[in-house]
Amino acid sequence: MRSARRRSRALMAFVGLVPLVGVALLAAPAADLEGPFVGNVTSNSAVIWWRSSTPAPGAVVIANRTLRDDQPPFEVTVTGLEPGKTYQYHVELDEGGRLPGQGDYSLRTAAGRGTEAEFRFAVICDSRGTKASEPVNVPVLQALLKHAKSRSAQFVVFPGDLAFGYCNDAAEYRRELRVWKSAAADLMHEIPVYLTMGNHDVLIHPDRDRHGPYDLDGAMVGGKLLTGEEAFAQEFVNPSNSPQPENAGAPPYAETCYSFDWGNCHFVVLNTNYWVGTRSFPRVPGDPCRLYERGNPEGRIMDRQMQWLREDLRRARQAGARHIFVFGHEPAFPVGAHVDDAMYYEGNATLSLKRDIRARQHQFWQMLSDNGVLAGFFGDEHNYSRALIGPAGDKTYDPPVWHIISGGAGAPASSARRTDLPWSDSIRAFEDRRHYCLVTVQGRQVTLEVFALPADFDPTMGEPKFEVIDRVEDMTARD
Ligand SMILES: [Fe+2]
Repeated sequence: MRSARRRSRALMAFVGLVPLVGVALLAAPAADLEGPFVGNVTSNSAVIWWRSSTPAPGAVVIANRTLRDDQPPFEVTVTGLEPGKTYQYHVELDEGGRLPGQGDYSLRTAAGRGTEAEFRFAVICDSRGTKASEPVNVPVLQALLKHAKSRSAQFVVFPGDLAFGYCNDAAEYRRELRVWKSAAADLMHEIPVYLTMGNHDVLIHPDRDRHGPYDLDGAMVGGKLLTGEEAFAQEFVNPSNSPQPENAGAPPYAETCYSFDWGNCHFVVLNTNYWVGTRSFPRVPGDPCRLYERGNPEGRIMDRQMQWLREDLRRARQAGARHIFVFGHEPAFPVGAHVDDAMYYEGNATLSLKRDIRARQHQFWQMLSDNGVLAGFFGDEHNYSRALIGPAGDKTYDPPVWHIISGGAGAPASSARRTDLPWSDSIRAFEDRRHYCLVTVQGRQVTLEVFALPADFDPTMGEPKFEVIDRVEDMTARD
């Protein structure tokens, strides 16, 4: 709705400026035009992108330059920018229309690599709705994004479960992700959001073999299988310094698993729902590992992604990253609602799958610890929990790594909290409120603040009053 209003303002502004220009020039942009959005921001470049079901060639006007794009997908890479600087921009579409209609949008480049400039980022996750007709909890998502913007977050990381999903149909999948983009548009015009898929953000199609029926990754489009990973990557712009596919028939990782730098920090976004197969995978008798030829259980990080992560973390340390953060949808250490899956699989699984998953959970966390990762942020459980995992006994997870679950952007709250898990005593905070995390990096210091909406949040009642429900003055103290 907001986009439609903005477009009509754009058209009016255009008419006001050039009242005598031929009517053909005044054709409105396509009704489903999305953007322009800012993505892949570095210290010297940014991508400005837009989408439309009909061709919408146009130009980005920024820093006294006009940069055209004539072919979809419309993604203009602006280079030669200066670190930590704000630039005004707008987009002019050939078919008539200037976005925004009046004034400009602005974008801010990342602080230079290795500099100790202060900056903030937000972590927001799990905005999905409860049915296809209401795929996104728009009021909660918008309230959190607006608050994060007002608190000067320079970027947002959103690790999954954007929309209700679980789609068999690619058009429906795109429609649901477009609802999300429409809800987030005010922020995305000016602030990059780094996204990946959650277990809901998947395309699935039914299949079967002699062991029974499965739901496997992807949907048929024009006689070809389109995987969820490909469809997700088409709908957004994210970095593509990604691992190679797990095998020749597996989906690409591009734009769903990647890393980037900002100031003195390194950020790694993982796809913990890569090539997801059926939720009934764990119930298949026998050794589930043989099924990794056709897909992967949710929460299991496959071999090539593990190798890529190891190499990426090693490079980041070599390059002198002071703080490293890792993000993924499925928590390594679930605390309640997802102890049956995520990276734990307590129940509902064959013994061999449990062993396999837990071995990977351990390898994963050890890798984060070995590389001095400060914190892993996850979602999936619709609550907030903060745990410090490690050290356990000998050198396991030493130094410890913060494990934060922040699935508070509008999916139904999960109040369940287990107290009998091996890591239950490591949990320092737990809340089941709608919330997000704001992280402030000031040189050596990293401060975490968690902002929650009021329990009686009503989007029709004006600006909500946020409450700080958790705060860590300096996460690097690891205590
Ligand atoms: Fe999830």
